[in-house]
Amino acid sequence: MNMMEKIIALCKRRGFVFPSSEIYGGFAATYDFGPLGFLLKKNIEKAWRAWNVEMRDDVVEIEGAIFLHPKVWEASGHVGGFSDLLVEDLKTHKRYRADHLIEEAQIMDNAGMLKPDEVDGIIKKNNIKSPDGNALSGAKRFNLLVKTHLGPVEDETTVAYLKGESCQNIYVDYKSVLDSMHLKLPFGIAQIGKAFRNEITVKNFLFRTREFEQMDVQYFCRPEDADRYYEEWKENRLQFYTQYMRFAPEHIHWRQHEADERAFYAKDAWDVEFQFAEMGFKEIEGVHHRGSYDLDQHSKFSGQDLRYFDQGKGERFNPFIIECSGGFNRLFLATLFEFYREEKERTVLAFPPRFAPYKVAVFPLLKNKPQLVEKARSIYQDLKKQFAVTWDERGNIGKRYYAQDEIGTPLCVTVDFDSLEDHAVTVRDRDSMQQERISLVGLKEYITKKLYAE
Ligand code: GAP
Repeated sequence: MNMMEKIIALCKRRGFVFPSSEIYGGFAATYDFGPLGFLLKKNIEKAWRAWNVEMRDDVVEIEGAIFLHPKVWEASGHVGGFSDLLVEDLKTHKRYRADHLIEEAQIMDNAGMLKPDEVDGIIKKNNIKSPDGNALSGAKRFNLLVKTHLGPVEDETTVAYLKGESCQNIYVDYKSVLDSMHLKLPFGIAQIGKAFRNEITVKNFLFRTREFEQMDVQYFCRPEDADRYYEEWKENRLQFYTQYMRFAPEHIHWRQHEADERAFYAKDAWDVEFQFAEMGFKEIEGVHHRGSYDLDQHSKFSGQDLRYFDQGKGERFNPFIIECSGGFNRLFLATLFEFYREEKERTVLAFPPRFAPYKVAVFPLLKNKPQLVEKARSIYQDLKKQFAVTWDERGNIGKRYYAQDEIGTPLCVTVDFDSLEDHAVTVRDRDSMQQERISLVGLKEYITKKLYAE
C-alpha cells in the first residue's frame, strides 16, 4: 500500500473520513468527516483562525452564504471563463481533463494554460490515448460552476450557482465590512467557506473534490503598498505552515505561476505546495497579487461606488487585494500525511497536541473490577471539564495504547489497583512511550504542562 492508501484506510477504520452516501455506493467523490475527523477539522480551523485572525489586529472574519447573486459570477468572469479543457474517449464517451492526461503522460507540467488547438496538437503528436486505451476527441471548454435553479420554476430567470470560490463573498461584502467596522487600510477579511466546482477528474481522496472548503484572507491595501504586503504575506504563509502547523520545512515548496498561467489582471501568483509522499509536491494554497480587478469588476456590474475614501489624502480609489486562498481539505490531508508515522509495532498520528482529536484517554486497568472502573470514571468525568478526553476499557492495556496512538491521543491515564491506595495513576506519553506515576492532586497541572509545552 502506498501512503495515500494507508491514510484512506486509517481515516475509514478510525472514523476520520467516510465516503459520503457509502451505503449507496458513494456519490461523486464527496466525503463526510466522521467523529474524529470532525474534531481534527475543528482543531485545524482553530489553529488557522488563531494565526490569521485572532493573533492579528488588522483582520476580521466573516461567514458568507453559499448562494450569491448570479451577477457576482458574471462580474468575476466565472460564467464566461471558469473552464477546463475536456477531451472525450471516442469509444466509452468518458470525459477527461486534457491537462491531466498531458501531465500524466509526463509531456509537460502545468498543462492547464494550454489552448484547445495546442492540446489537440500535443495529443496527436504524442499519440496520447484515454486511460482505457482509446482515441480521444478534440478538446472542448467545460464550465466548472455548479448550476442550479432557485425558486419554483426552472427557467433562465431562476438560474443560480453554488459558490465557485469562497473569496467572492468577501469582495461583495467588502464595503459593508469597511463601513460597519470603521476599518482603515490596510486590513484583511478572512473566511472559511464552502466552494463547489464541477471538477471532471476527482481523485486522490480529499485532494480534488467537487465540494470543498477554502480558507481565505483577502488583504486590502493602497496600490503603492501592494508589492510590500505581497512579500509580507508570502513570508507569513511560510511561517504559518512551518512554525504554526509544524510541517517540516523540506515538505513545503513555493511555485511561481508562469505569466500565461495566471489571470490577466494578476501581477504575480505563487502556490504553496506540500509534499504528499509519492504524489510529490502539490498545491495547498495560492497567494495572488490581484490588483483592484475584483472591486473594479463588482463596481462596474453592481453600479455601486465601492471606493475607499482616504480622508488624510482626500483620495478615493479601489484598494488592491493580496489574496491568500488555502484549501481546507488539502490542509487536513497534509496534516495527516505530515504526522503519520509507522513504527515497529504501531502506527502513530504524531500530531502536535493542539490538533489531536482527544488530548487524554482514561482506562481502568481491568473492566470487570468495579472499584477500578468507578475510580477511573470519576477521574474521566473530572478531566472532561477541562480537556477533550476519551474513555476506553476494551482489550488489554497494550492494545488500548496502540489504538490511541493511531488516532493521535498524546496522553493515556491508567487507573490500577495501587491507585485505590496511593491516589496516583500511570500516565503514558504517546511519543516517548514513557510511563510516569502521577499523583491525582497534580494530574491536571501535569497534563496541562505536557499538552501546552509546545
Ligand atoms: N480565490 C482563488 C481561488 O479559488 P484556487 O487556486 O482555485 O484559487 C485555492 O483555489 C485553493 O483551494 C487551492 O490552493 C486548493 O487548496 C483549494 N482547491 C481548489 N480546487 C479544489 C478542489 N477541487 N478540491 C479541493 N481543494 C481545492
